[in-house]
Parts: sequence; C-alpha cells; structure tokens
Amino acid sequence: MKIKGSTVLITGAARRVGREIALAMARAGAHVIVHYRNSQKEAKRLAAEIQSLGVKASLIKADLSQIRQVHRLLTTISKRSSPIDVLINNASVFYRTPLQNVTEKQWDEIFNTNLRAPFFLSRDIGLRMKKAGKGKIINIADWSGLRPYSGYIPYCLSKGALMTMTQALARDLAPEVQVVAVAPGPVMWPEGLGEKEKRTVIEKTPLRRLGSPKDVVETVRFLVEGSDFMTGSTIFVDGGRLIA
Ligand SMILES: NC(=O)c1ccc[n+]([C@@H]2O[C@H](COP(=O)([O-])OP(=O)(O)OC[C@H]3O[C@@H](n4cnc5c(N)ncnc54)[C@H](OP(=O)(O)O)[C@@H]3O)[C@@H](O)[C@H]2O)c1
Repeated sequence: MKIKGSTVLITGAARRVGREIALAMARAGAHVIVHYRNSQKEAKRLAAEIQSLGVKASLIKADLSQIRQVHRLLTTISKRSSPIDVLINNASVFYRTPLQNVTEKQWDEIFNTNLRAPFFLSRDIGLRMKKAGKGKIINIADWSGLRPYSGYIPYCLSKGALMTMTQALARDLAPEVQVVAVAPGPVMWPEGLGEKEKRTVIEKTPLRRLGSPKDVVETVRFLVEGSDFMTGSTIFVDGGRLIA
C-alpha cells in the first residue's frame, strides 16, 4: 500500500516511539491522526510539525483503558470524510507488577489498554477497511510476549495475546486487510529505569546495545509499503533478545 496520500491513525503518538512513527508516516506523505491521552502539549507540537511537512494532521484524545472512550473515539473517526487506511496500535502501559503484589486494578488497566482497546479499534476500523476493499493494521507488541521476563506478567501476557490477536484478525479480515505486528526489543529506555537495570538488559541482548525507535519505524514503513503479501506475521526487532 502506498503511504503517500493515505490516512494513518497512530495510538499513543504524542511521544517516544509513537511520535517517530507518526513523523515517518508524515514525511512519506501520509495524513496523520495523532491519538494521545495525557500528552496534549506534545501532541499539539507534533501536529504542527506534521502540518509543516505539507500533510494533514488531526488530534484525538482518549483514555484507551476506558471502553466508553474507545467507543467515543470510534464514533468520531467514523464521521470523518476520509477513511482510515492504516491503523497502528502503539499505545501501551508498561510497569512492574511483581507476582506477589499484582492487583486486579493493574491487571485490568494493562489488559484494557494493551489488548482490549487494540481489539475493538481493529475490529471496527478493520471491518470498515474490509468494506472499502483495503487497509492495514499494525500492532506494536513486544518480544517478551513470547518469552516473558520476571516481574511483568500481565504486560507480557497482554503482548503475547496481541500477537495471537494479530493472527486471528488477519484470518477474519483477509483478503482485503492485512494485519501484522512488530515485536521490539529494547529500543528506548522506559522512563526512570536505573543504570544497573539498563546494564542487565544490554548484557542479555545478543547485539549488546540498545536499538533505536528508527528500527521500529523502518519496520513499520516496510509493513505498510514494502509488501502486501504479509498477514498474521510478527517481525521481531529485538537485537536477538528472544533467542538469548
Ligand atoms: N520502548 C521500548 O524499548 C519498547 C520495547 C518493546 C516494546 N515496545 C512497545 O512499543 C510501543 C511504543 O513504546 P514506547 O516506549 O514509546 O511506549 P510508552 O512510552 O510506554 O507509551 C506510549 C504511549 O501510550 C499512551 N498510553 C498509555 N496508556 C494509555 C491509555 N490508557 N490510553 C491511551 N493512551 C495510553 C501514552 O500516551 P500519553 O503520553 O498521551 O498519555 C504514551 O505516551 C509500545 O506498544 C511498547 O509496548 C517498546
């Protein structure tokens, strides 16, 4: 699918990896819908930057852990004159949940944001894409969805299920819509991670370094534009974390 002239919705796009994906799509000529939750200032700055590239940018705010807000977002999107060609489910919550302390509230927040919201967004937007005859859905997962690490069980489970969801939706939305996933390894340190933890992560990464958001961005670009013959697949961009 050509990126130029398409309309791309990216969740959690105001900062960090999502922001880089949004800018790359805009540079390639896409009109971008920037979804955000709390990062309004950053989202507005990004929208201005995107518009300065000569393409359209619009903003949409929603707390994706709240199902009513997911449906409100979908209603707003459905009223747009130009349909969504590419949906990128990037927004996610990530924090430590040691086994003995995991609460139901944390479980719900993590699953509702990382899995339930991508499911309902993909279902509604995906069915509309199917009707229109084309579309792509890209889920940003995590290598740890296949090989969970300690202290983050709900997060790892949510990302594992996101990869399974990618396969399930790919079947149901075929042949018009392709559904694929990217599973990054460490590409940007979570805010507040200590130096010792960073060293441990690098030691456990066969390529012995932190990747960069660009590694994810280039993979997303490939998945949108490079091949229309992939569906249900997950590409690991993880410095070898999975095989370590
Ligand atoms: N960073 C890495 O090295 C790495 C490694 C493996 C996988 N990944 C995956 O790659 C993606 C991007 O990573 P990242 O580090 O850039 O992510 P991030 O900073 O942890 O989160 C991205 C955005 O998600 C949004 N978000 C969180 N909870 C939300 C909610 N309830 N409703 C709506 N939006 C919500 C936030 O938006 P606001 O700021 O607007 O609130 C946040 O800016 C994520 O899916 C992550 O799991 C990243």
